[in-house]
Amino acid sequence: MSDLVEQSKRSAAFAAVDKHVLPSVRVLGIGSGSTVVYAVDRLLELKNNNQLNPKLVCVPTSFQSKQLIADAGLQAADLDDLPILDDAQGGFTSIDVTIDGADEVDSELNAIKGGGGAHLREKLVANASNKLVLIADYRKDSQVLGEKWSKGIPVEVSPLAWRTITRQLEHMPCMQKGSRLFEDEHPVANLRQAVRKAGPVVTDNGNFILDVCVGNIYDPPAVERLFKMIPGVIEVGIFSNMASEAWFGNSDGSIVCRI
Ligand code: A5P
Repeated sequence: MSDLVEQSKRSAAFAAVDKHVLPSVRVLGIGSGSTVVYAVDRLLELKNNNQLNPKLVCVPTSFQSKQLIADAGLQAADLDDLPILDDAQGGFTSIDVTIDGADEVDSELNAIKGGGGAHLREKLVANASNKLVLIADYRKDSQVLGEKWSKGIPVEVSPLAWRTITRQLEHMPCMQKGSRLFEDEHPVANLRQAVRKAGPVVTDNGNFILDVCVGNIYDPPAVERLFKMIPGVIEVGIFSNMASEAWFGNSDGSIVCRI
């Protein structure tokens, strides 16, 4: 990875943490991936300067994220062990804010996530958060999902039926009620393979991942819903209408916040 990309991840992460992790924040969701590592670096600096809430509790979204929290000496708690906040969203959230990475974010803050295979827990934590803040480098900033991320939509599936689900996804029509949902007429679903181990990636939850290539995604909420309706699909790596902000580090050192 180039220094420029790493610097862009770091500046986006630091800026987002500085804006959102104020001493008033009691419960913080911690995403997964390489960009989140910088967010936790910044949290550690704030902790060492006594600028964090001393009662801060962090909610992990993966094994990696749990390790990051532990290594930084922060307190971790599982989502369902937290009390429900007195929130503005109907009384089910328990997290003040979550900071997470993304594989691509479009102009309306819809995102593709799951490049690291953690999108099930990431979506559970995002859903229980008052605010989801995404952090990314300039390569992830796009107008239409699929423009930049060419590896496909990560879909976590039950190992019991991955072949059946693959066929069903590959027969998914690109049109619905006269409007185009995604670009490719013939989607391709690839079973994600492990590196340095023969066989498929097995998620933290014991499932497989299909990476579904459909080209550009013109209607992210509809595609998310359609995929999710297939029996055996555990979670889809499209996060429609969930993020409230995305911070991008640019190659010239500047930072953009999309709201
Ligand atoms: C983990 O499954 C993903 O959703 C990550 O949040 C996403 O892939 C971003 O990762 P990087 O920060 O490593 O690009």
